[in-house]
Formats: sequence, structure tokens, C-alpha cells
Amino acid sequence: MAAELLSPAEMLRGNAMAPVLRLEFLVSRVAQQTFAATLLGVPASKLRAAYECPECGTGPDIAHGRPGYLLDGDPAPLLLSASRASGWVLFAAVVRPEAVLQLGVDLENAAATEFAGFDDVALTVRERRHLDRVEPMRRSRERARLWARKEAWLKMTGEGLRVSPDSLDVLERQGLWDLELPASVDVQDLPNGLLAALAVRFALTGTS
Ligand SMILES: CC(C)(COP(=O)(O)OP(=O)(O)OC[C@H]1O[C@@H](n2cnc3c(N)ncnc32)[C@H](O)[C@@H]1OP(=O)(O)O)[C@@H](O)C(=O)NCCC(=O)NCCS
Repeated sequence: MAAELLSPAEMLRGNAMAPVLRLEFLVSRVAQQTFAATLLGVPASKLRAAYECPECGTGPDIAHGRPGYLLDGDPAPLLLSASRASGWVLFAAVVRPEAVLQLGVDLENAAATEFAGFDDVALTVRERRHLDRVEPMRRSRERARLWARKEAWLKMTGEGLRVSPDSLDVLERQGLWDLELPASVDVQDLPNGLLAALAVRFALTGTS
């Protein structure tokens, strides 16, 4: 199924990965394309991945960076962001967005941010002080919450981690939301330590 839907560049990228990562990557790309097609009301086979990397640009050989699709050769009217963690994938999208709208989403497992030295490279001085004031039992989730907010923001701007994360303060940044699962959603296997953030803004000037 993946080979039928995905672009040659996506298949090439996936096939260069180790087996478990490859499976996660290919499954999430198929899910993403199906999700995008459903929102656009077209068959998934009519979409073709069109990625944009801040270093490499765009084109049929690019399968990394900011996600997007072509529909019948033209850019599909869909703003899209995606994130994977712990075998789960989170998508955010806006159909027929205004040209200046930007969107980023991130899914994070708290365990992934719990290693020595993380705070020094990832957090601003103010965020580190904030984390010191959080009670120890809650600190791990709070650290991951901040990290999800940073990655959501940096996907929204398109810069990614080319921006030093310890220079981006996300404690009270407008346009950032912590995502909660609605109580009505019954996702029994969802790991406890998963956190997510969404960044949305109208960017009239610049990227910062
Ligand atoms: C994207 C990033 C901020 C976080 O990624 P992560 O936590 O490792 O992984 P996530 O699963 O949360 O997000 C990955 C998704 O982010 C999106 N993404 C990647 N780069 C992006 C960018 N510049 N702008 C917007 N979205 C981006 C893609 O949808 C990607 O999905 P994919 O793996 O199917 O390609 C980080 O990996 C990064 O900055 N990468 C790019 C660095 C760069 O520009 N390198 C130059 C490459 S030539």
C-alpha cells in the first residue's frame, strides 16, 4: 500500500531507515496522506507529497521538512503539521487556510526528555528557573510540555532545530496551546507520559 500511495522520494527515505523506524515512518506517511485526502474530499491517490526543507528547498526529490501535498500538480489547499512519538502520530491541519496562517504540532513522550544535560541545551534560563520551582513529581511532565511547545513553534515557523532551543522561551508565548485529549476520547493504549502542543499564528512579517 505504501509504495502505491507515497512518492519515490518518500519510499527512498523510508527504505534507508532501520526496520522499526521504517515501518513507523511509512505507516505515518500513509496515514497522513489519507488524513489529508479525507479533509480535502479527494482520493488519497490524487495527492503527491510536496515537502519544503529550509536547507534543501522543494521538489520531487525532497521528502523531509514541512509537509504538504500537490493535487493535480498544484499545491493542495491544506496547511499540515505532523509529529510521531512512542508509536503514535499526531496531525494538525487547516483546509483552505489564509495565506499568512502558520501551523505546527508536536507530540512528546516525557521519558524522551529525561536525560542529563537536556535542560542546559534545551531550555532558556527563565524556563530552567521555572522548572526548578515545579515540584519534583511534576517536573518530568513539565519539561516535556515545554519541549513539545518549542518543537510545535519551530515547526510552525519552518525553522526546526536550526534555531537553538535554549534561545526560544515558550512559557507564555502567544499562539501556543497545550493539547489535551477530550474526556470523550477513549484511547486505552495511549501511554501516560505523552504530551502535545499546537502552535498557530498569522505571520505578517518575519519568522521569530
Ligand atoms: C522537526 C523537528 C523540529 C522535530 O522533529 P522530531 O521531534 O524529531 O520529530 P516529530 O515526529 O515530532 O516531527 C517530525 C515531523 O516534523 C515535520 N517537520 C520536519 N521539519 C520541519 C520543518 N522545517 N518545518 C515544519 N515541519 C517540519 C515533518 O512532518 C516531520 O515528519 P516526517 O518524519 O514524516 O518527515 C526537528 O527534527 C528538526 O528541526 N528537524 C529538521 C532540522 C533541519 O532543518 N535539518 C536540515 C535537513 S537537510
